[in-house]
Formats: sequence, structure tokens, C-alpha cells
Amino acid sequence: MDSTLLSAKNLSVRFGGVLAVNNVSFDVKQGEVFTLIGPNGAGKTTVFNLISRIYTPTSGEIAYLGPQGMLKLTDQPPQNVASLGIARTFQNIELFEHASVLHNLLIGRHTHRQTGLWQDIFFTGKTREAEILAREKAEEVIDFLGLQHYRDAFVAGLPYGVRKVVEMARALCTEPKLLLLDEPSSGLNVEETDDMAFWIQDIKNELGITVLMVEHDMSLVSKVSDRVLAMNQGEVLAMGTPREVQADPGVIEAYLGSIDDVSSLRRQATQEAA
Ligand SMILES: Nc1ncnc2c1ncn2[C@@H]1O[C@H](COP(=O)(O)OP(=O)(O)OP(=O)(O)O)[C@@H](O)[C@H]1O
Ligand SMILES: [Mg+2]
Repeated sequence: MDSTLLSAKNLSVRFGGVLAVNNVSFDVKQGEVFTLIGPNGAGKTTVFNLISRIYTPTSGEIAYLGPQGMLKLTDQPPQNVASLGIARTFQNIELFEHASVLHNLLIGRHTHRQTGLWQDIFFTGKTREAEILAREKAEEVIDFLGLQHYRDAFVAGLPYGVRKVVEMARALCTEPKLLLLDEPSSGLNVEETDDMAFWIQDIKNELGITVLMVEHDMSLVSKVSDRVLAMNQGEVLAMGTPREVQADPGVIEAYLGSIDDVSSLRRQATQEAA
């Protein structure tokens, strides 16, 4: 199956003098893990913010396979994004610190609610039904991500690694078709990063959710990504399998300064081994 879920075409966005994203095009296929890599300031989070409709592109557009077929995401108001099946986590965790894990998940679910304001105020049958469904979904996600132990704990008291999982749980409660993860491994230790790799693979394989991820940890990227897009200074450097992209000279140069540095590092390693 390789039908397109999201298609970005010639996306550019300018902030004053900075061209943060410059003519970027890519397709995300249904069911894949598609990863954006690139040095700091490359424009990765800005691409996420364009998809979430936090920003509007200066030029270009994003198409997305909604419930009624392909639509122009860049024409949608930001409040429609969640109900179209797009959920995200943030580079800096955004949770309600003084609420329990369960409450954070229920709040996350709220975007999915089909009931109106008056129904909510008078707590009609439909509202009650939505409430029950929300709780069922939250419990399901808690079980799926192994958060049972933290269910009633306040977020403020939780270790950083657990908060990252809670943020992902909150996004999953909206039952997304497309999950955007901005640096899921940042701030995690090696063991937590390994766990994160498993969660991402389970989200893809067991829940069938398409994942678009920004990530710096190349071992995590290689483990979970079907395809990788490398960016630098707003532009596309390379696209392909993790192995292809990591071997791309432009990518090596962007990460390590210059290709000469890399060659000399390799020579040095060979001489030392001899
Ligand atoms: N709202 C904004 N106003 C002005 N400049 C911005 C804004 N958002 C991003 N930028 C600029 O756009 C460029 C790309 O930023 P972005 O946050 O997308 O990078 P990134 O690839 O996510 O980097 P990092 O790996 O550090 O998270 C940077 O130069 C940044 O300063
Ligand atoms: Mg970023």
C-alpha cells in the first residue's frame, strides 16, 4: 500500500529576512514512518508548524487525505486540524503540569468531541456517551503505552522520560491518522530512547498510524524510519532510506562541517586501526 496521506509542494515560509523553509516538497505515504533530520535551525519544526496550521506558508501548499478525500490543508483553519486526524507532540513538552496523567489525556481527547456547547452544558445523553468513549480511549492508550502506574499522578512530579510518553499518549487519544513527533528522544537516556523506538514501531504496526517525525538521534532514526528527508537551512538536502540519506555527502557535510573534515576523520581512523 503506498497511497499518499500528506503531500507538501514547494513549501516556503519567510520570517522577516529568514527563509526558514525554502521550496520544500515531499509526500508522506499511509502507514510509513517518515523522518525529517537536519542541523539546528534547518526548518524542521517550522515544517511541523506549517502542517499544524500554526503558520501559513508564504508560498506552496499542503494536500492531505481527509475523511472526504484529498483536501488543501493550507486552506483549513487551525482548529480543524485535529478533527482531520492530525495530532502532534512538541519539541518542548506541552502538558498541564498540575493535572493527572488521565486528565491530560481526557483534555487531549476533547478536540475529538462531536457534542456541542449546549449539549455539554446540560450534560445530555450524547455528552455522557462521548464522556464514556473518551474515558475508554484514554484507558486503552494508558494500557498500550504502559502508563498504568502513572495514571493518577500529577504530571509535575513525573520524570522527564515519562512525560514524553504522556505527551505521546495525549496525542494518541485523539485517534489520529497522522502523528507528528517533534524530537521524541530529546532529553531521554539510552534505555528510554530504546523504549521510544519500540513505542513508535508499535504505533505504526499495531495501531496503523502514519508517523512524521523530527529526530536528531541517528540510531533511532535508522531503527524506525522507512524514509528520511534531510534539510539544511530551509532546503531539502536529500531524501531516501535512512542508509541512503546518511551516506549522502551533502548530509555529512551539513552535519560535520565539511566533507574534508569527514575524509580526514576516516583517514585518521584507518591509520589508527593499522
Ligand atoms: N516564529 C518565528 N519567527 C522568526 N523566525 C523563526 C520563527 N520560527 C522559526 N524561525 C527561524 O526559522 C529557522 C528554522 O527554525 P526551526 O525551529 O524550524 O528549526 P529546527 O530545524 O526545528 O531546529 P532545531 O533542531 O534546533 O529544533 C531558524 O532560523 C529560526 O530562528
Ligand atoms: Mg525544532
